Amino acid sequence: MSDLAPDRVRPRLRGSFGESYLYVVETSSTQDVLRDSEHPHGAVAVAEHQTAGRGRSGRRWEDEPATALLFSVVLEPPSGSPLPQLSLVAGVAVAVALEREGAVPTLVKWPNDVLVERAKVAGILLEAAGGRVVCGIGVNVDQDEDELPHETRAPATSLRLAAGRRFDRGVLLAAVLDELERTYAAWLGHGLEALADELERRNALDGAIVSVDGRRGVAGAIAADGRLTVELDGGETVLVESGEVEIQATD
Ligand code: BTN
Repeated sequence: MSDLAPDRVRPRLRGSFGESYLYVVETSSTQDVLRDSEHPHGAVAVAEHQTAGRGRSGRRWEDEPATALLFSVVLEPPSGSPLPQLSLVAGVAVAVALEREGAVPTLVKWPNDVLVERAKVAGILLEAAGGRVVCGIGVNVDQDEDELPHETRAPATSLRLAAGRRFDRGVLLAAVLDELERTYAAWLGHGLEALADELERRNALDGAIVSVDGRRGVAGAIAADGRLTVELDGGETVLVESGEVEIQATD
């Protein structure tokens, strides 16, 4: 039986996320499984393999069957909520859970990646429609080097490559869902401020050289509203929305 089968995962769940649990061997994308509004807040869809997995900015997210943790969660925030912040809310949850279960230090790379040893181990994709958000998370768990998602933008790794041992994906999934329920509740109650310490401690881009609209600068803190602080060459400091910054070097 797969480590992601409902009978293996349900006993490990600690909160309400995942009470509605849809497990499929193959689908186009777990994002598509949850598209209909019939799926409640906290519903989770998991797949062993996606035939048309999606990354950010229209990129594909490819996988070798049964080697990754590929799942989506329905979130129904109050209307008017700053939805882009949810990628940081999810990023902190994934980073904390993987660090605890994997015993490997993790960082959040603003706005939507989780890194281990400076390589991407997980990515987050938010798709919003009608005030409802489907939060997709892909974690590289058991891949060899040649099985990792091909992204020219960033080096990638898997938990097994980084930690030197195998992982039960059901254990990882339950840990991420538990953390996501915690960070989401904290964000609902107090905004991103509630996660400020964790974001500061795990900010992979602090000190990175980036370009913003063709202008070079050095990234700094993640601001209280989730935007990235960049000090441009010449001294001007700007706050950048997701998607407007290009990373040139992280050291
Ligand atoms: C990125 O880093 O660009 C985001 C990757 C998100 C991948 C996950 S895998 C589960 C869910 N289903 C998808 O099609 N995409 C997300």
